[in-house]
Amino acid sequence: MSSFFYNLPSVGCVCAHRGARSLAPENTLLALARARECGAALWETDVQLTADGKAVLFHDRLLGRTTNAAELDAFVSFAPWALADFTLEQLSRLDAGSWFLRDDPFGTVADGVVRETEHAEIHRQKVPLLDDALEYSRRHRFPVNLELKDQSGTPAELDLVPVVLEAVARFGVGDLVLISSFNHDYLRQVHNLNPQLATAALAEGSHPENLLPYLRGLGVVAYHPDQQIVETGLIHELDMAGFRVNLWTVNDVARARELVVAGATFICTDWPQKMVGRL
Ligand code: G3P
Ligand code: MG
Repeated sequence: MSSFFYNLPSVGCVCAHRGARSLAPENTLLALARARECGAALWETDVQLTADGKAVLFHDRLLGRTTNAAELDAFVSFAPWALADFTLEQLSRLDAGSWFLRDDPFGTVADGVVRETEHAEIHRQKVPLLDDALEYSRRHRFPVNLELKDQSGTPAELDLVPVVLEAVARFGVGDLVLISSFNHDYLRQVHNLNPQLATAALAEGSHPENLLPYLRGLGVVAYHPDQQIVETGLIHELDMAGFRVNLWTVNDVARARELVVAGATFICTDWPQKMVGRL
């Protein structure tokens, strides 16, 4: 049985969604550092494999929104820039930070919460390796929720789980890692390869039928539904059945409190700096 949840505070845990993504570009090492600085108990990040089988932290299937791929001559002919088509070396040439200052997705650049003195560091952000995140977790004992993105239909499909598990073992951070996915076959693979690791089933839109037996069959310790499909009674029911329930994405403090009072272990938020200490 995984000891992952023993590394979290017993109540009112804040998980920084893609890092502190309203303070720094999502899924970068700066967003990770900001998450820990503002007191989040853990962070969530998205994992995908490159064309040469390296695990990196990246949310979208395409590179356009959160990198400068569209602006580089070497990338132009590869539009629309599917991450899985590029090697790690190619991805290492990308700027994964400047878009945040340009697009200001949370208004925190315009309102000065992100200070001008931070801009140079934001411009320097790259697509991180999973290894970078695991090294950080090991050094700071900082737990991480690794969301394995569904790479069905790409060459990464067969390798994603073994590559991630190899990295977790190499860094010796099995107790600091929770593996979640919308692709529940990946969770079955994790459970078969290493039943000690904590896994969580993600759900969006609706719950799987016969939820409790379904979760037991997957071997997961936690359920991660979109908070929009959750009524508090469900959290209580799952809690009583021995499952952790963690919700995403909760940006309203009152809603987060309601979910925690109902028994949620952590809530995943874009605004960890506003949630910490208030749940
Ligand atoms: O893990 C919760 C959440 O991250 C799932 O949605 O699209 O933000 O990765 P998304
Ligand atoms: Mg995610």
